[in-house]
Amino acid sequence: MHIQHNISLKNYNTFGIDVNARQFISITSVADLKSVYSAERKASKFILGGGSNMLLTKDIEALVLHINLKGKHIISQTEDHVLVKASAGENWHEFVLWTLENNFGGLENLSLIPGNVGTSPIQNIGAYGVELKDTFHSCDALNLETLKIETFTNSDCNFGYRNSIFKEEAKGQYIILSVVFNLTTKNHVLHTKYGAINSELERLNITKPTIQDVSKAVISIRQSKLPDPKDIGNSGSFFKNPIITKEAFSRLERNFPNAPHYVVSDKNIKVPAGWLIETSGFKGKTFGNYGVHKKQALVLVNYGGASGHDILKLSKLIQDTVLRLFDISIEAEVNII
Ligand code: EPU
Repeated sequence: MHIQHNISLKNYNTFGIDVNARQFISITSVADLKSVYSAERKASKFILGGGSNMLLTKDIEALVLHINLKGKHIISQTEDHVLVKASAGENWHEFVLWTLENNFGGLENLSLIPGNVGTSPIQNIGAYGVELKDTFHSCDALNLETLKIETFTNSDCNFGYRNSIFKEEAKGQYIILSVVFNLTTKNHVLHTKYGAINSELERLNITKPTIQDVSKAVISIRQSKLPDPKDIGNSGSFFKNPIITKEAFSRLERNFPNAPHYVVSDKNIKVPAGWLIETSGFKGKTFGNYGVHKKQALVLVNYGGASGHDILKLSKLIQDTVLRLFDISIEAEVNII
């Protein structure tokens, strides 16, 4: 195991923020991970996955462990389902493409989401009417106290909207090592109701879509709306869509009769934060080398050289403005470090 000293984390976070890690280890085996924890019991540690859901605002003094565990394979197969396991350090989108090459269905709507497999359950990644929890079977995670591997089933994870046990009561106590997905091998269930997918399939003249077609449509929608972190630093949706009470929504609707919304229960309504931010006048606004994406107001962007503080300051200005104009609090989705 090789400890690197004073390295830049710029290429390890999709926002492209240039902060320094004092000590950095690339973890390529579970045995290495266990021995770091045994040998460096007291040292504080910072776990780095795909770096796609974080805003780094300072140098990292803790020992950075970059989870680089690789591998993916079929565990078992029945007539119409397959269980596949992927290690935490596998790139999410490459894994999704691999499942589609094998004609395994279930992850196609989650195509092109940045990040790695190991961090996907933490925030229950979701897009275009599908969430990770819909195909998640189980995951293996290292208990950082006992150094034993524990298995979490789908119900153990308490999945919610961009949430799981790993963001709540088990926060900081485990490192996810691998995830098992339950996918279909035939009679695939397509999720094409989400408006944009249907119109994209129509545009592509596809009337009987396959799972591969749905993936293509999702890729094309994402590419048209969301900036590619390779070109413009960003962390996808910076904020969560707020869930408000029906009463609060009635007040909003009085002033904004066309406010988009989704009913989530008989008491609660979800309002797109992108709409609140756009209506507050921030969409496409630039502040020097950072700003709000011009095609999707939920996404804050680093055009190159911005600091984590710059972006944090902008996010606070947006939160304050939305609160003042709409009386709605919007919460960051990304982890602020
Ligand atoms: N909207 C605006 N202005 C904007 C953006 C959106 O008015 O700048 C309105 C749209 O008109 C639409 C509504 O907001 O009525 C919803 O927009 P969209 O379908 O683009 O989805 P979203 O709610 O903005 C969520 C996820 C995305 C995911 C998309 C598609 C969250 C926080 N974000 O965005 O996830 O790709 O749905 O399913 O739930 C991510 O988490 O990083 C991410 C990109």
